[in-house]
Amino acid sequence: MSKSEPEGNRRPADATGLSRRGLLGGGLAFAAGAATLAAGAAARAADGDPAIVEVQDWNRYLGDGVDARPYGMPSEYEAGVVRRNVPWLTADATSSVNFTPIQDLDGIITPNGLCFERHHAGIAEIDPAQHRLMVNGLVDTPLVFTMEDLARFPRENRVYFLECAANTGMEWRGAQLNGCQFTHGMVHCVMYTGVPLRTVLQEAGLRDGAAWLLAEGADASAMTRSIPLEKALDDCLLAFKMNGEALRPEQGYPLRLVVPGWEGNMWVKWLRRLEVGDQPWHQREETSKYTDLLADGRARRFTWVMDVKSVITAPSPQVPVRHGRGPLVISGLAWSGNGRIRQVDVSLDGGRNWRTARIDGASLPKALHRFYLDIDWDGSEMLLQSRAVDEAGFVQPTKAALRAARGENSIYHNNGIQTWLVRSEGSVENVEVS
Ligand code: MTE
Ligand code: CO
Repeated sequence: MSKSEPEGNRRPADATGLSRRGLLGGGLAFAAGAATLAAGAAARAADGDPAIVEVQDWNRYLGDGVDARPYGMPSEYEAGVVRRNVPWLTADATSSVNFTPIQDLDGIITPNGLCFERHHAGIAEIDPAQHRLMVNGLVDTPLVFTMEDLARFPRENRVYFLECAANTGMEWRGAQLNGCQFTHGMVHCVMYTGVPLRTVLQEAGLRDGAAWLLAEGADASAMTRSIPLEKALDDCLLAFKMNGEALRPEQGYPLRLVVPGWEGNMWVKWLRRLEVGDQPWHQREETSKYTDLLADGRARRFTWVMDVKSVITAPSPQVPVRHGRGPLVISGLAWSGNGRIRQVDVSLDGGRNWRTARIDGASLPKALHRFYLDIDWDGSEMLLQSRAVDEAGFVQPTKAALRAARGENSIYHNNGIQTWLVRSEGSVENVEVS
């Protein structure tokens, strides 16, 4: 399999947020032994370290006042923490995708400006005062809502991951992209504020025979997706806020459909219309549905739920181990469209032995989970893997098991176990173990 190195996946040396002086500080050695480090003792002696013995500029001069930054941005030292695309994947940027820098993030919430973007016809820039949501089809009363109307329904706050069905799709036939941003970065997780879809459908009144919902976007692709009414009445949201502020234009401002646990393409952005029907629209228009082509030529359909999955985000190719042997925090993300993550195991030897990782922070259904395994690294080569189990009992499969079941024609729904080779000197590479 050909290896490729997409442009821009190198991490700028100054993007770590660490002072190089602090790291390299004139021959200052680590305090003796990993145990001391782990205990939180100072890793370096103060003598001669300019970061300690010299007064720094930021300590000497007044900083910007409160009005200098009406909308705050990250430190300039974090300039390398950005969404990135893989230019050769698509013909142009309007129908394309970029990737969340999951290798640089922690916790379970994705900052709004870093949520990956997937557009079929670019970003629609919508004046919310001109935006309408129409509900028609098999309803008692067809209705049209303004954004102000929607804000008068009781609303809810819920945290969900969104994963594009094509996430990890480039890895079906072998290890290809050197960084979890590119292999697993078509995922984000935010807190949505919105009105349950059920509330608005009940307001319109469902007629006999109502079984499916067509959701349509107001962007230039007027993207439509069919959703079974059962799901629409269960946990879908009409969301207008993410992480407390208005949706970003990239994420569907002013209104998007949230379809928890299901593939990202159904989460219609810039939502303008909901039509209730008695059959799925994709039986008429084959284009409005993703399918998974199997080895024997048949295709899987209705593969809406995103299966249990996990990935180690650090160390990973874009975040090598810079500090050598000793205490090492192995960190990653796990998620499942079936609900909560019950357990994550981590292997250091390519899947022969497993240790249970620590899930830290909130464990919410259909949301990202953060796990850690804190080890004392002896500096020998590692084949890092993570394997998640969800509350429905599904276990993340190996890539070999996945290929045996589905062949290699698929693009979508690759939830196989990822392997990172960590070399003794700390560099990390995307590999596969047999
Ligand atoms: N909705 C509209 N209107 N147009 C689109 O192109 N792309 C879909 C979905 N909703 C799309 C859309 C796809 S394929 C995905 S994976 C998600 O939006 C991506 O959501 P995000 O851009 O917020 O990450
Ligand atoms: Co998608």
